[in-house]
Amino acid sequence: MSLKDAALKVRENAHAPYSNFKVGAAILSGSGALYVGCNVENVAYPEGTCAEAGAIAAMVASGETELAEVYVVAQSPQPVPPCGGCRQKLAEFGARDVKVTLATTDGAELETTIGQLLPGAFDASHMQDS
Ligand code: THU
Repeated sequence: MSLKDAALKVRENAHAPYSNFKVGAAILSGSGALYVGCNVENVAYPEGTCAEAGAIAAMVASGETELAEVYVVAQSPQPVPPCGGCRQKLAEFGARDVKVTLATTDGAELETTIGQLLPGAFDASHMQDS
């Protein structure tokens, strides 16, 4: 299944009764495996999780830590960019040149990269002794 189809399919499972904004994310890992996630909201609003976070958690739980490609889809007028927290989560597991496609359910797509989404990212190199 393509990343696009996987993201569209998992989006249908999103639990978004508070925002009514369903998001699906699909990840291709370094090994070529596919992982998916959807947003899971909570009545205690800050406890909700984003689709990207769910897909990353599924990948890591399966023993993988390398992102090769990402696809995110929502029903919105424009492709929806990941929130700040998800940009940092993507940067944890993907190189700057990893392709991220942001899409709408109507078929509009915006191609970007993890590096473009989070320029100047804080990473492990910043914690090394000089
Ligand atoms: N959301 C995501 O899952 N991913 C994004 O990239 C943008 C926002 C979710 C969080 C919340 O459940 C809903 O969309 C509205 O913000």
